[in-house]
Amino acid sequence: MNHPINKIPVAVLGATGAVGQRFVQLLENHPWFYVSTLTASDRSTGKKYSDACRWILSDEMPMSAAEVTVQPSAPGFEAGIVFSALPASAAKDIEPAFAKAGYAVCSNSSAYRLDPLVPLLIPEMNPDHIALVERQKTEKGWKGLLVTSPNCTTTGAAMPLKPVHEAFGIKKVFAVSMQAVSGAGYPGIPFLDIHDNVVPYIKGEEEKLEKETLALLGKMAGGKREDAQITISAQCNRVPVFDGHTVCLSLELDRKADIPEIIQSMREFKAVQIGEELPSMPPFSLHVTDKPDRPQPRRDRERGQGMIVTVGRVRPCPILDVRMVSMVHNTLRGAASGAILNAELLTAKGFIG
Ligand SMILES: NC(=O)c1ccc[n+]([C@@H]2O[C@H](COP(=O)([O-])OP(=O)(O)OC[C@H]3O[C@@H](n4cnc5c(N)ncnc54)[C@H](OP(=O)(O)O)[C@@H]3O)[C@@H](O)[C@H]2O)c1
Repeated sequence: MNHPINKIPVAVLGATGAVGQRFVQLLENHPWFYVSTLTASDRSTGKKYSDACRWILSDEMPMSAAEVTVQPSAPGFEAGIVFSALPASAAKDIEPAFAKAGYAVCSNSSAYRLDPLVPLLIPEMNPDHIALVERQKTEKGWKGLLVTSPNCTTTGAAMPLKPVHEAFGIKKVFAVSMQAVSGAGYPGIPFLDIHDNVVPYIKGEEEKLEKETLALLGKMAGGKREDAQITISAQCNRVPVFDGHTVCLSLELDRKADIPEIIQSMREFKAVQIGEELPSMPPFSLHVTDKPDRPQPRRDRERGQGMIVTVGRVRPCPILDVRMVSMVHNTLRGAASGAILNAELLTAKGFIG
């Protein structure tokens, strides 16, 4: 691999999987980072990346990655940032080992998302939660650090909720998801289970959506994260869509608002000012459509290179107050691109190096 001057070397853990491949694709021409190391499980270690990885993306595998030898997922190589696309079971021991050894870990796994000392970040929503890193270093005794990105469905739900919660306060959320097959990783769910079908169970998903949303909408107080006080009921379903998770949301508000006001709050949603420009930050993060039959995964998931969440069908709810449909690209904004944006935030704020 090239070693470009003035770029930060980064590693991808779990580089052969569905999210790992997205990292490799997105980091190919990143202005600040270059991929120096790719890791995976014992199954892949020692093989060329092109032999170990069944590439599932439509673009070609980057030439710079194809010839790289896959390394074990353990500290011992040069990298300023380590992107983790490991299953939670593997991440549980591997991610802290990297943080302890001095690496900055940006994780997509669920293993530490709800750890009170680990920031769960969407930079437009809660960049101030990064302050937990200071306590993490002293209380966990790590030379490096660990920040996490939310579950992909949580991202699609929490982003439109943020401006509505800020403007009117949210008391209750009823959420029903329709989640793409790429969310299950590779090889994922068997064709004979998902073709012509809907599977009304995704292990652990409803709990993630219910708990992580509260952390993301929570506030920092006295150096601690205080979760938002919202009651959330989630039902998660796997549907035969390749990429793009859809979430139908019904909300009860603290302060009653009419539909145009709610739409306006989302259209005017601006990223929390962080003072620096980040290369992966989209010009706006929410697109609210008036079209009666949108959002749709196939038509809306690529908006803003997959970084913009599309919201539509904002209308009164006869049970709660307002309902809407949100759609997020699960392996881009909901996974690899979201973690890269977190790494850019850490870099801009001086946490790397
Ligand atoms: N897919 C999504 O839309 C999405 C969205 C948000 C978050 N996530 C999270 O991101 C993570 C990765 O998801 P994925 O969908 O990419 O999964 P995946 O396709 O199953 O890929 C898993 C990767 O981890 C490696 N791996 C597995 N066990 C390992 C071990 N014990 N030690 C080291 N490496 C190991 C695999 O390597 P081998 O190829 O060598 O087995 C592979 O590279 C998960 O935590 C998932 O929950 C996924």
